[in-house]
Amino acid sequence: MVDVRKDFKGRSFLAIKDFTKEEFFALIDFAAELKAAKKAGVPHRYCEGKSIALLFEKPSTRTRCAFAVSAVDLGAHPEYLGASEIQLGKKESVEDTAKVLGRMFDGIEFRGFSQKAVEQLAEFSGVPVWNGLTDQWHPTQMLADFLTVKENFGRLEGITFTYCGDGRNNMANSLLVSGAKAGMNIRIAAPESLHPEPWVIELAENIAAQEGGGSVLVTADESEAVADADVIYTDVWVSMGEEDKFAERIELLTPYQVNAELMAKTGKNNTIFLHCLPAFHDIETIYGKDVNAKFGLDCMEVTDEVFRSSASKVFDEAENRLHTIKAVIAATLGEF
Ligand code: CP
Ligand code: NVA
Repeated sequence: MVDVRKDFKGRSFLAIKDFTKEEFFALIDFAAELKAAKKAGVPHRYCEGKSIALLFEKPSTRTRCAFAVSAVDLGAHPEYLGASEIQLGKKESVEDTAKVLGRMFDGIEFRGFSQKAVEQLAEFSGVPVWNGLTDQWHPTQMLADFLTVKENFGRLEGITFTYCGDGRNNMANSLLVSGAKAGMNIRIAAPESLHPEPWVIELAENIAAQEGGGSVLVTADESEAVADADVIYTDVWVSMGEEDKFAERIELLTPYQVNAELMAKTGKNNTIFLHCLPAFHDIETIYGKDVNAKFGLDCMEVTDEVFRSSASKVFDEAENRLHTIKAVIAATLGEF
């Protein structure tokens, strides 16, 4: 039996693969508990007097705000360090930066490009390090997504969860491995050239066989992938750092757009739609307007109709970033 108030103390949170199924589920349940406490106005200042560093090489709305508000709710002080504000990797190595930050802070969040950087921060800082997104994984997002699934279906095991879109980005990797760990029927629908790397698929298959108990499917056939799905998920077609790829991604991924026709192919009337956000569901953004002018599209990975439908739980999911990130900080740093 996992004790969330003891068993995570001092540990880093770098990828879901590093945790057992029971630990993964325990963090999700702890987040639900903290969500209820916040809504009831019950104080939960488990990190009183601690300081945490928030390192962001890439931009963020949800992750940054969730870490900042969580820190304050837990009684800790958050310090934001943006890409242009510290030397990380430019004038000072990640190892040296980690050693310095570890002398001053009790925990460090990192969002950036390289998974190796977040691993080095954990190795050399001596304090818990939390991965706020790298090119490879987005583990705090998994807790929020799966809490949202549990709130809607009351369970995770046996849920059929289909991700449509760029199958080789941080979200696809993370959902494949986390879904396998949770015992879901986890499916990725993507064109072959955008399938996850073979080691990620193998990792997910091994986890499903040895620990999860569900199934793993990676296919180019979106109709096969969405049949019977309880959850349809998508992400942007072009991730942060690859903004020169709009033309090729639009060509490859248009058949995988989440629209009313694709949602109907589940054959179920209670399928929910999730998206980590931000989403291109209209042209109310600079990129959206640019894509509209160049390619004539009024949305990309999801239509405005699906995004705004009652099936869409994306803002519950966004709120759950707060409660789940708080669970990670409290479990790894808290005094109970
Ligand atoms: N979903 C997510 O990570 O959002 P941000 O990029 O705004 O943090
Ligand atoms: N795949 C996206 C996720 C954003 C939360 C990106 O890396 O930009």
